[in-house]
Amino acid sequence: MFELPKELKEKLLEHVNYFPRKEQAVLLCLHEIQNYYGYIPWESLKPLAELLEVPLNRVEGVVTFYDMFDTQDRAKYRIRVCVSIVCHLMGSNELLKALEKILGIKPGQVTPDGKFKIVPVQCLGACSEAPVFMVNDDEYKFESEEALHEILSRYT
Ligand code: FES
Repeated sequence: MFELPKELKEKLLEHVNYFPRKEQAVLLCLHEIQNYYGYIPWESLKPLAELLEVPLNRVEGVVTFYDMFDTQDRAKYRIRVCVSIVCHLMGSNELLKALEKILGIKPGQVTPDGKFKIVPVQCLGACSEAPVFMVNDDEYKFESEEALHEILSRYT
């Protein structure tokens, strides 16, 4: 049976105990799990549902609703590309094309070395910087293919 590692479980309990209703911690807990593993193992949802004291299908529904959560094809670095309206108008397509060219993969795919995955997502809340992308927790404005190349080279 799948068990959450002790240190991860402790962090999840901190979130769960912070809220008046345990299930309000669901998003924070899912982020915590994703940060820990680099993705969300499907088997981790059952112990999480138990901590939150909600039915398993409630947690499964949240994971599948949000495209910020990855349940498969883990990569060391997730490149989240905002494809919402402002970023779209400001050039998220060029950003995606540049990423595909540099990394040789399509959105949703992982590079053969397991390093990068391109994940199109909805508004990242930094519209004034559009077009925006994030490499794990680091946020960037797309300026040019050369600048993008330089940014990616920092991630080893
Ligand atoms: S539309 Fe891209 S960050 Fe808001």
